[in-house]
Amino acid sequence: MAKGTGSEVSLKEIIEAAHNLKGRLVEWRRDFHEHPELGMEERRTAGIVADHLRSLGIEVRTGFGGTTAVVGLLKGASPGPTIALRADMDALPIQEENQVPYASKTPGQMHACGHDSHVTMLLGAATALAGFRERLAGQVKFFFQPAEEGPGGAQPMIAAGAMEDPKVDGVVGLHVASEMNVGEIGVVPGADSASPDSFSIRIVGRGGHAAHPDQGVDAIAVAAQVITALQTVVSREIYPLQPVVVTVGTIHGGFRNNVLAGEVTMTGTIRTLNADVRDQAQAAVGRIVKGIAEAMRATVEVDFSRGYPSFSSDPSMYRLVRQAAVDVVGPERIHDLDPTMGGEDFAYYCQKAPGTMFRVGGRNAAKGFTNPLHHPRFDLDEDALPIGVAVLVRGALSFLSGGEA
Ligand code: NI
Repeated sequence: MAKGTGSEVSLKEIIEAAHNLKGRLVEWRRDFHEHPELGMEERRTAGIVADHLRSLGIEVRTGFGGTTAVVGLLKGASPGPTIALRADMDALPIQEENQVPYASKTPGQMHACGHDSHVTMLLGAATALAGFRERLAGQVKFFFQPAEEGPGGAQPMIAAGAMEDPKVDGVVGLHVASEMNVGEIGVVPGADSASPDSFSIRIVGRGGHAAHPDQGVDAIAVAAQVITALQTVVSREIYPLQPVVVTVGTIHGGFRNNVLAGEVTMTGTIRTLNADVRDQAQAAVGRIVKGIAEAMRATVEVDFSRGYPSFSSDPSMYRLVRQAAVDVVGPERIHDLDPTMGGEDFAYYCQKAPGTMFRVGGRNAAKGFTNPLHHPRFDLDEDALPIGVAVLVRGALSFLSGGEA
């Protein structure tokens, strides 16, 4: 199976390497957790990452499009393909409510999406893989990416050449999962994440005395019809087996009980898993809003703003990572997951190379780790860290030694 090198790294060696890193992983993770940084501001985190990669003899590149991104390049002893492993580094503008020694020291900022653990697991994988360098045939790139929570770090990194020189042949990302128990791994056989697009609607009627609705145009009555009708985009316009979400998240209008509202503004989101459905849903929202406004004598402006694209696992990358996960945790602890209607800018890497993401279970009810991602008391079982490392390393080695396991 192994090209060139002859002596493959065994599963036992991988699991031992990951296990031996446990103390270091916990230190890293708690340090990052204590020092969260928002998207595009991950300077401290990036500095620690770059220093550690250099200490392993891994080539380090920074400055991708002026971002805080760090890309490490580990060259194996013999030639071969290139795999990229990706972790996001950013925290969220959330005030942490956990009472733990490693709680955030920065008011109003918190690693509530577990990206501290992603950076940690990727550092662990880099450490383990550097130790196997003499037996690697090919290259491993380590993508430490800023701003997954927005405005997005993958796109500027790719634009600045992260997927080139050497060209990436496959890419793997990971995310912790708060609904899956520690020791379990989730993989996604098909569609993974949605395109989280947004819209804003401004309905303009004509204000007046509430006693004389006939003399004005009540923008609130128009808005009510619009909100109800928008739900028919999902139920009446899109193929029923295609998931779509249309949500109106904000609405503002009016200022007094006895005055007709002359204007209402609303914002919301449209999420789909398919590029054609995305276009179709957006067109339907625009048409329905305009049609209802016109029918009710109002005028309307509708603006759409596109978020990350949706993406699906590449079938062979999915099989490769699934097998790596089976090897590490056993087949009974693998979950084949449904897609999420959340967004992920990992999608951009998948437009350039075959890719897949896996999820690392971090829940442990016995230890009190049950809160969901983005919760002010989110936390995870650190026993997940060496498991994530082992899956990353096993997947990367299997890719380099000839693709599918
Ligand atoms: Ni996240």
